[in-house]
Amino acid sequence: MNQVDYLRISLIDRCNFRCLYCMPEGTDLEYALQQNLLTHAELLTLINEVFVPVGFTRFRLTGGEPLIRPGVVDIVRAIAALPETQDLSMTTNGFLLADLAQELYDAGLRRINISLDSLEPETFDKIIGHRGRSRWQQVWDGIQAAHRVGFNPLKLNVVVIPGVNDQEVLDLAALSLDREWHIRFIEFMPIGNASLFGDRGWIASEELRQQIRDRWGLTEGEVRGNGPADVFRIPGAQGTLGFISQMSECFCDRCNRMRLSADGWLRPCLLNEDEQIDLKTALRSGVSTTQLRAQVRKLLQLKPEINFKQRDSGTQSGAYSRTMSQIGG
Ligand code: GTP
Ligand code: 5AD
Ligand code: SF4
Repeated sequence: MNQVDYLRISLIDRCNFRCLYCMPEGTDLEYALQQNLLTHAELLTLINEVFVPVGFTRFRLTGGEPLIRPGVVDIVRAIAALPETQDLSMTTNGFLLADLAQELYDAGLRRINISLDSLEPETFDKIIGHRGRSRWQQVWDGIQAAHRVGFNPLKLNVVVIPGVNDQEVLDLAALSLDREWHIRFIEFMPIGNASLFGDRGWIASEELRQQIRDRWGLTEGEVRGNGPADVFRIPGAQGTLGFISQMSECFCDRCNRMRLSADGWLRPCLLNEDEQIDLKTALRSGVSTTQLRAQVRKLLQLKPEINFKQRDSGTQSGAYSRTMSQIGG
């Protein structure tokens, strides 16, 4: 069985973007109240006294948008300083990165994944739901800042939406040619904006790979990272191309992660709403961390079964009510 040692920690369920596929303008989302977010101290208690003892050593900070969480740099510093932390990374939309990249690096963050769904400012703004002065340049500056500061690997995530950004696949793939950047194409999932999914559908990774093969060729067998991506390379390119194919493939059997939402719910699987544990309420009502460890261990044992069950009832069969921003990307 796969070792589950990777925890994705959402720091906040809010976001400064309104991505078409996630929480578009007009979506009626209920955000966690400030007092329901895990505090810095509670998060550290859970990591130190619950997650590390049951075997978690790798942590990714997500959101919503993690960089809008007050004190994010302090949280990074505290987790990076734990002797048990083998890997600490972040998934961000990059909007605040130009200012924060150096501070985050100095605090101990080394790996960062940034969403970049388009190279065309107009399309980009349409996807992130922004009107007015384009935000593309600021995100691009954030990516450049992360590169300069030395984040490695630096991964760029592209959710491919038919008829919106699929015509840019080759341009986005070309970013891997001269830089050691890792571009990952993600199949659009029926999570979040169900009506867009219903209208547009999704494009299988193999179709994108074929376009790329026809243009440059594509080598297989690159070393897979910790995540679900299948990794390829354009011959001679410095960076790689990853494909996250949760619609056309099932990677549940190699799933190594659980998710902690910003308000303290531990989910054994992205798609699971049934078996999650409310760690924050337990902690605040005085349940001991020894008891919480036992609950988490039990959930770890159940996980293989949950993975497949949820995939069948979730991804395959239509829309799923929550957004990535609520679950923790
Ligand atoms: P690393 O390879 O460690 O860098 O991590 P990663 O690729 O898991 O991280 P990232 O946050 O960049 O994830 C990219 C995308 O993969 C997410 O936004 C999701 O769309 C998808 N994804 C990540 N984890 C899961 C998962 O457990 N299940 C499914 N179905 N999709 C996932
Ligand atoms: N399908 C695929 N990926 C999604 N994300 C959010 N919603 C979806 C969806 N419906 C991913 C984006 C972003 C991360 C936070 O979540 O790639 O990188
Ligand atoms: Fe924000 Fe990420 Fe959702 Fe876009 S996908 S709205 S950046 S949480």
